[in-house]
Amino acid sequence: RKKVTMVTLRNLYRKGEPIAMITAHDFPSARAADESGMDMVLVGDSLGMVAMGLENTTEVIMEEMLLHCRSVARGAKAAFLIGDLPMGSYEVSPEQAVQSSLRFIKEGRVHGVKIEGGEELAPTVKRITQAGIPVVGHIGLTPQRQNALGGFRVQGKTSAGAVQLLKDALALQEAGAFMLVLEAMPPEVATLITSKLQIPTIGIGAGNGCSGQVLVQVDMTGNFPQFVKRYADVWSEATRGMQQYREEVKSRQFPSPEYTYPITKEELSKFQE
Ligand code: KIV
Ligand code: NA
Repeated sequence: RKKVTMVTLRNLYRKGEPIAMITAHDFPSARAADESGMDMVLVGDSLGMVAMGLENTTEVIMEEMLLHCRSVARGAKAAFLIGDLPMGSYEVSPEQAVQSSLRFIKEGRVHGVKIEGGEELAPTVKRITQAGIPVVGHIGLTPQRQNALGGFRVQGKTSAGAVQLLKDALALQEAGAFMLVLEAMPPEVATLITSKLQIPTIGIGAGNGCSGQVLVQVDMTGNFPQFVKRYADVWSEATRGMQQYREEVKSRQFPSPEYTYPITKEELSKFQE
């Protein structure tokens, strides 16, 4: 498979072909994503929840993100890789955000970064972009701000809220973002925002009118209870397999001779002497 670049993504957008993105947080999940032909792989800070067992993403730190990014980068050979700037790594100043983004490229080995927030982040997005780092914006439900939003809540359900989302989208595009994630908003709002932009939008809980879609891999393969379409039930299958293994260990059915390393009769009799 050919390496996906910014040019590839731009061409998909121009042709109107939806961009397929999924998250990964380690080597095997990255391999699975890459081999299923994903255009983009996101090392989302949702890994704090789905891989580390945290309640939400607010505690995730740079070092954790970078470790997971490196593992994903080893597994994904063709997809375009994006890493999530975690809460606390970009809000203080555009300089802080550039420094964190550079660490994602150099230590995390991803190709670009994603940042949660609206028009207030325009100067920050501009500085990161000027450093030669592709930036994906993320508006709507921004989970890092859930303490301020009052939980994981759908955004843009009022006309004022929807207008603000459109303003945010236009400001981020103007600042240089090459793509925007639209999370948890009515489909009509996401579709209108998409039609007003010259950069692709990637929806999650935002309907079918975006330029692409993203899902959290662990959610859509059944390992984490969430309101998403479950495309596979890896969790049940893995648990079933492990239950059977456990039973076979307890009953000494496993390992049967085909799973053991043979020794010749001659060597064995010498050994037994
Ligand atoms: O962290 C994540 O997985 C994300 C996607 C849901 C967009 O930000
Ligand atoms: Na995220």
